[in-house]
Amino acid sequence: MKDVSIDTITQAFLDYCGDDTDPRTMFVLTKMVEHLHAFAKETQLTHAEWARGLKFVTDAGIISDDERNEFVLISDVTGLSSLVDMIGSQHEGTSSSVLGPFHSVGAPMIPVGGDIKKDNDGTTVVVEGYVKGTDGSPIEGAVIELWQTAENGLYYSQDGDQNDFNLCCSMTTGADGRYAMTTVKPAPYKVPDDGPVGELFRATGRTPWRPSHLHFIVQVEGYKSLVTEVFANGDPYLNSDAVFGVREDLIMDYVESTDMDALPDDLEAKAAVTSPYFKVDFDFVLVSDT
Ligand code: BEZ
Ligand code: FE
Repeated sequence: MKDVSIDTITQAFLDYCGDDTDPRTMFVLTKMVEHLHAFAKETQLTHAEWARGLKFVTDAGIISDDERNEFVLISDVTGLSSLVDMIGSQHEGTSSSVLGPFHSVGAPMIPVGGDIKKDNDGTTVVVEGYVKGTDGSPIEGAVIELWQTAENGLYYSQDGDQNDFNLCCSMTTGADGRYAMTTVKPAPYKVPDDGPVGELFRATGRTPWRPSHLHFIVQVEGYKSLVTEVFANGDPYLNSDAVFGVREDLIMDYVESTDMDALPDDLEAKAAVTSPYFKVDFDFVLVSDT
Protein backbone atom coordinates (compact mmCIF):
# COMPACT_ATOMS: atom_id res chain seq x y z
CA MET A 1 0.00 0.00 0.00
CA LYS A 2 1.58 3.28 -1.12
CA ASP A 3 -0.82 5.61 0.63
CA VAL A 4 -1.02 4.45 4.24
CA SER A 5 -3.34 6.56 6.39
CA ILE A 6 -4.93 6.49 9.83
CA ASP A 7 -7.88 4.72 8.26
CA THR A 8 -5.98 2.16 6.17
CA ILE A 9 -2.97 1.22 8.32
CA THR A 10 -4.71 -1.70 10.08
CA GLN A 11 -5.74 -3.28 6.77
CA ALA A 12 -2.25 -2.59 5.39
CA PHE A 13 -0.74 -4.61 8.24
CA LEU A 14 -3.10 -7.50 7.51
CA ASP A 15 -2.45 -7.35 3.76
CA TYR A 16 1.32 -7.59 4.31
CA CYS A 17 0.97 -10.98 6.07
CA GLY A 18 1.43 -14.08 3.91
CA ASP A 19 -1.48 -16.31 2.89
CA ASP A 20 0.20 -19.39 4.35
CA THR A 21 0.26 -17.99 7.92
CA ASP A 22 -1.17 -20.50 10.41
CA PRO A 23 -4.90 -19.59 10.75
CA ARG A 24 -4.95 -19.33 14.57
CA THR A 25 -1.73 -17.24 14.58
CA MET A 26 -3.26 -14.97 11.93
CA PHE A 27 -6.52 -14.63 13.88
CA VAL A 28 -4.81 -13.76 17.20
CA LEU A 29 -2.35 -11.39 15.51
CA THR A 30 -5.13 -9.68 13.54
CA LYS A 31 -7.18 -9.07 16.67
CA MET A 32 -4.13 -7.87 18.61
CA VAL A 33 -3.14 -5.33 15.94
CA GLU A 34 -6.74 -4.21 15.42
CA HIS A 35 -7.07 -3.52 19.16
CA LEU A 36 -3.62 -1.89 19.34
CA HIS A 37 -4.43 0.49 16.49
CA ALA A 38 -7.92 1.18 17.88
CA PHE A 39 -6.32 1.95 21.26
CA ALA A 40 -3.96 4.53 19.73
CA LYS A 41 -6.80 6.15 17.78
CA GLU A 42 -9.30 6.14 20.66
CA THR A 43 -6.82 7.69 23.10
CA GLN A 44 -5.24 9.94 20.44
CA LEU A 45 -1.95 8.63 21.86
CA THR A 46 0.75 11.31 21.86
CA HIS A 47 4.35 10.68 20.86
CA ALA A 48 5.46 11.37 24.45
CA GLU A 49 2.95 8.83 25.84
CA TRP A 50 4.03 6.23 23.28
CA ALA A 51 7.68 6.80 24.24
CA ARG A 52 6.81 6.49 27.96
CA GLY A 53 5.10 3.17 27.24
CA LEU A 54 8.16 1.91 25.38
CA LYS A 55 10.40 2.96 28.27
CA PHE A 56 8.14 0.98 30.64
CA VAL A 57 8.56 -2.14 28.51
CA THR A 58 12.32 -1.53 28.09
CA ASP A 59 12.74 -1.12 31.87
CA ALA A 60 10.85 -4.40 32.36
CA GLY A 61 13.39 -6.11 30.13
CA ILE A 62 16.33 -4.57 31.98
CA ILE A 63 15.13 -5.71 35.42
CA SER A 64 14.20 -9.23 34.24
CA ASP A 65 16.62 -12.15 34.57
CA ASP A 66 16.49 -15.92 35.18
CA GLU A 67 15.02 -15.34 38.66
CA ARG A 68 12.66 -12.46 37.94
CA ASN A 69 10.27 -11.96 35.04
CA GLU A 70 8.74 -8.48 35.09
CA PHE A 71 6.70 -9.26 31.96
CA VAL A 72 4.81 -12.04 33.76
CA LEU A 73 4.25 -9.61 36.63
CA ILE A 74 2.88 -6.97 34.22
CA SER A 75 0.49 -9.59 32.87
CA ASP A 76 -0.50 -10.47 36.47
CA VAL A 77 -1.10 -6.93 37.74
CA THR A 78 -3.03 -5.82 34.65
CA GLY A 79 -5.40 -8.79 35.14
CA LEU A 80 -4.40 -10.49 31.87
CA SER A 81 -3.10 -13.64 33.61
CA SER A 82 -6.31 -14.03 35.60
CA LEU A 83 -8.45 -13.31 32.55
CA VAL A 84 -6.71 -15.97 30.44
CA ASP A 85 -6.99 -18.34 33.39
CA MET A 86 -10.75 -17.73 33.77
CA ILE A 87 -11.38 -18.04 30.02
CA GLY A 88 -9.69 -21.46 30.06
CA SER A 89 -11.54 -22.78 33.10
CA GLN A 90 -15.20 -21.96 32.74
CA HIS A 91 -16.66 -25.11 34.33
CA GLU A 92 -18.50 -26.31 37.40
CA GLY A 93 -15.41 -27.48 39.36
CA THR A 94 -13.33 -25.54 41.87
CA SER A 95 -12.22 -22.17 40.47
CA SER A 96 -8.66 -21.91 39.30
CA SER A 97 -6.35 -19.04 40.18
CA VAL A 98 -2.91 -17.73 39.25
CA LEU A 99 0.17 -19.97 39.55
CA GLY A 100 2.47 -17.12 40.58
CA PRO A 101 6.26 -17.22 40.35
CA PHE A 102 7.05 -19.24 43.47
CA HIS A 103 6.07 -22.78 42.51
CA SER A 104 9.07 -25.15 42.67
CA VAL A 105 8.97 -28.54 41.03
CA GLY A 106 10.06 -31.41 43.30
CA ALA A 107 8.47 -30.64 46.67
CA PRO A 108 8.90 -33.63 49.04
CA MET A 109 6.08 -36.20 49.03
CA ILE A 110 4.56 -36.60 52.51
CA PRO A 111 1.78 -38.96 53.68
CA VAL A 112 -1.81 -37.83 54.25
CA GLY A 113 -1.72 -36.18 57.69
CA GLY A 114 1.92 -35.14 57.22
CA ASP A 115 3.51 -32.06 58.76
CA ILE A 116 5.14 -29.08 57.02
CA LYS A 117 4.95 -26.68 59.98
CA LYS A 118 8.02 -28.30 61.54
CA ASP A 119 9.82 -25.55 63.46
CA ASN A 120 8.24 -22.64 61.57
CA ASP A 121 6.89 -19.86 63.79
CA GLY A 122 3.14 -19.45 63.95
CA THR A 123 -0.06 -21.07 65.13
CA THR A 124 -0.65 -24.56 63.72
CA VAL A 125 -3.19 -24.74 60.91
CA VAL A 126 -4.78 -28.10 60.11
CA VAL A 127 -5.77 -28.10 56.43
CA GLU A 128 -8.05 -30.98 55.50
CA GLY A 129 -10.48 -31.93 52.76
CA TYR A 130 -11.38 -34.22 49.90
CA VAL A 131 -10.65 -34.34 46.20
CA LYS A 132 -13.90 -35.13 44.41
CA GLY A 133 -15.43 -35.31 40.97
CA THR A 134 -18.33 -33.05 39.99
CA ASP A 135 -20.70 -35.92 40.98
CA GLY A 136 -19.24 -35.85 44.53
CA SER A 137 -17.39 -39.17 44.21
CA PRO A 138 -13.95 -39.32 45.91
CA ILE A 139 -10.89 -39.30 43.66
CA GLU A 140 -8.11 -41.68 44.65
CA GLY A 141 -4.50 -41.08 43.64
CA ALA A 142 -4.81 -37.31 43.14
CA VAL A 143 -1.46 -35.61 43.67
CA ILE A 144 -1.79 -32.37 45.63
CA GLU A 145 1.05 -29.86 45.75
CA LEU A 146 0.97 -27.09 48.35
CA TRP A 147 3.29 -24.08 48.70
CA GLN A 148 2.99 -20.93 50.79
CA THR A 149 4.78 -18.11 52.58
CA ALA A 150 6.10 -18.33 56.11
CA GLU A 151 4.83 -15.99 58.83
CA ASN A 152 7.22 -13.30 57.55
CA GLY A 153 5.41 -13.19 54.18
CA LEU A 154 8.32 -14.77 52.26
CA TYR A 155 8.52 -17.96 50.22
CA TYR A 156 11.56 -20.13 50.92
CA SER A 157 13.07 -19.14 47.57
CA GLN A 158 13.05 -15.47 48.66
CA ASP A 159 14.46 -16.05 52.12
CA GLY A 160 17.97 -17.32 52.83
CA ASP A 161 16.90 -18.22 56.38
CA GLN A 162 14.40 -20.87 55.23
CA ASN A 163 15.40 -24.40 54.15
CA ASP A 164 14.80 -25.49 50.56
CA PHE A 165 11.15 -26.51 50.10
CA ASN A 166 10.18 -25.08 53.49
CA LEU A 167 6.36 -24.97 53.69
CA CYS A 168 5.98 -26.94 50.45
CA CYS A 169 4.81 -30.52 49.98
CA SER A 170 3.19 -33.07 47.70
CA MET A 171 0.63 -35.62 48.88
CA THR A 172 -1.39 -38.38 47.21
CA THR A 173 -5.02 -38.97 48.18
CA GLY A 174 -6.12 -42.43 49.30
CA ALA A 175 -9.29 -44.31 48.28
CA ASP A 176 -11.48 -41.83 50.19
CA GLY A 177 -9.99 -38.84 48.28
CA ARG A 178 -8.88 -37.25 51.55
CA TYR A 179 -5.86 -35.05 52.16
CA ALA A 180 -4.67 -33.42 55.40
CA MET A 181 -1.58 -31.63 56.63
CA THR A 182 -0.39 -29.38 59.44
CA THR A 183 1.15 -26.05 58.51
CA VAL A 184 1.07 -22.36 59.55
CA LYS A 185 -1.08 -19.49 58.36
CA PRO A 186 0.59 -17.76 55.40
CA ALA A 187 1.01 -13.99 55.66
CA PRO A 188 -0.21 -11.41 53.13
CA TYR A 189 2.47 -10.88 50.51
CA LYS A 190 3.67 -7.86 48.50
CA VAL A 191 4.42 -8.48 44.80
CA PRO A 192 7.82 -7.05 43.82
CA ASP A 193 7.33 -3.28 43.59
CA ASP A 194 10.92 -2.10 43.11
CA GLY A 195 10.66 -2.07 39.30
CA PRO A 196 8.33 -0.77 36.56
CA VAL A 197 5.33 -2.56 38.12
CA GLY A 198 5.98 -0.64 41.36
CA GLU A 199 5.94 2.62 39.36
CA LEU A 200 2.61 1.59 37.87
CA PHE A 201 1.19 0.92 41.36
CA ARG A 202 2.39 4.26 42.70
CA ALA A 203 1.17 6.19 39.65
CA THR A 204 -2.31 4.69 40.01
CA GLY A 205 -2.69 4.59 43.80
CA ARG A 206 -2.85 0.78 43.88
CA THR A 207 -1.60 -1.57 46.56
CA PRO A 208 1.05 -4.21 45.71
CA TRP A 209 -0.28 -6.53 48.44
CA ARG A 210 -1.84 -9.93 47.88
CA PRO A 211 -4.14 -11.42 50.52
CA SER A 212 -2.84 -14.42 52.51
CA HIS A 213 -3.15 -17.56 50.39
CA LEU A 214 -2.21 -21.22 50.11
CA HIS A 215 -1.21 -22.32 46.60
CA PHE A 216 -2.37 -25.72 45.34
CA ILE A 217 -1.96 -27.82 42.20
CA VAL A 218 -4.16 -30.93 42.04
CA GLN A 219 -3.50 -33.47 39.28
CA VAL A 220 -4.79 -36.93 38.48
CA GLU A 221 -5.28 -38.89 35.30
CA GLY A 222 -8.72 -38.47 33.74
CA TYR A 223 -9.32 -34.96 35.13
CA LYS A 224 -8.31 -31.43 34.17
CA SER A 225 -5.38 -30.29 36.31
CA LEU A 226 -6.33 -27.59 38.80
CA VAL A 227 -4.01 -24.70 39.71
CA THR A 228 -5.59 -22.66 42.46
CA GLU A 229 -5.24 -20.73 45.71
CA VAL A 230 -7.19 -20.75 48.97
CA PHE A 231 -7.64 -17.38 50.64
CA ALA A 232 -8.27 -16.47 54.28
CA ASN A 233 -11.69 -15.02 55.03
CA GLY A 234 -11.37 -11.58 56.63
CA ASP A 235 -8.00 -10.78 55.05
CA PRO A 236 -7.73 -6.99 54.52
CA TYR A 237 -6.55 -7.41 50.90
CA LEU A 238 -9.31 -9.70 49.58
CA ASN A 239 -10.90 -6.78 47.74
CA SER A 240 -7.68 -5.38 46.28
CA ASP A 241 -5.54 -8.43 45.37
CA ALA A 242 -2.73 -7.03 43.22
CA VAL A 243 -3.09 -9.91 40.73
CA PHE A 244 -6.91 -10.38 40.72
CA GLY A 245 -6.72 -14.00 41.94
CA VAL A 246 -9.60 -14.02 44.46
CA ARG A 247 -12.79 -16.01 43.68
CA GLU A 248 -15.72 -16.41 46.07
CA ASP A 249 -15.44 -20.23 46.30
CA LEU A 250 -11.73 -19.97 47.19
CA ILE A 251 -12.26 -17.93 50.41
CA MET A 252 -12.15 -20.12 53.52
CA ASP A 253 -12.44 -19.54 57.25
CA TYR A 254 -9.47 -20.23 59.49
CA VAL A 255 -11.60 -21.56 62.34
CA GLU A 256 -9.93 -21.23 65.74
CA SER A 257 -10.41 -24.33 67.90
CA THR A 258 -9.39 -25.53 71.34
CA ASP A 259 -10.96 -28.97 70.80
CA MET A 260 -7.97 -31.31 70.78
CA ASP A 261 -10.28 -34.33 70.38
CA ALA A 262 -11.38 -32.93 67.01
CA LEU A 263 -7.87 -33.22 65.56
CA PRO A 264 -7.65 -35.91 62.85
CA ASP A 265 -6.07 -39.10 64.24
CA ASP A 266 -3.57 -39.46 61.40
CA LEU A 267 -1.78 -36.12 61.96
CA GLU A 268 1.93 -36.90 62.08
CA ALA A 269 2.52 -33.90 64.36
CA LYS A 270 -0.66 -34.33 66.45
CA ALA A 271 1.27 -34.37 69.73
CA ALA A 272 2.94 -31.06 68.89
CA VAL A 273 -0.31 -29.17 68.16
CA THR A 274 -1.04 -26.65 70.88
CA SER A 275 -4.35 -25.04 71.75
CA PRO A 276 -5.78 -22.98 70.15
CA TYR A 277 -5.09 -24.10 66.59
CA PHE A 278 -6.74 -23.17 63.27
CA LYS A 279 -8.73 -25.52 61.06
CA VAL A 280 -9.27 -24.98 57.33
CA ASP A 281 -11.63 -27.36 55.49
CA PHE A 282 -11.43 -27.20 51.72
CA ASP A 283 -12.61 -29.69 49.10
CA PHE A 284 -11.30 -29.67 45.53
CA VAL A 285 -13.83 -30.49 42.80
CA LEU A 286 -12.14 -31.67 39.60
CA VAL A 287 -13.67 -31.75 36.14
CA SER A 288 -13.30 -34.79 33.90
CA ASP A 289 -10.99 -34.20 30.93
CA THR A 290 -13.21 -36.13 28.51
C1 BEZ B 1 2.07 -14.99 44.38
O1 BEZ B 1 1.13 -15.72 44.49
O2 BEZ B 1 2.86 -14.99 45.27
C2 BEZ B 1 2.23 -14.10 43.19
C3 BEZ B 1 1.36 -14.24 42.13
C4 BEZ B 1 1.50 -13.41 41.04
C5 BEZ B 1 2.52 -12.46 41.01
C6 BEZ B 1 3.39 -12.34 42.10
C7 BEZ B 1 3.24 -13.17 43.19
FE1 FE C 1 1.65 -16.63 46.33
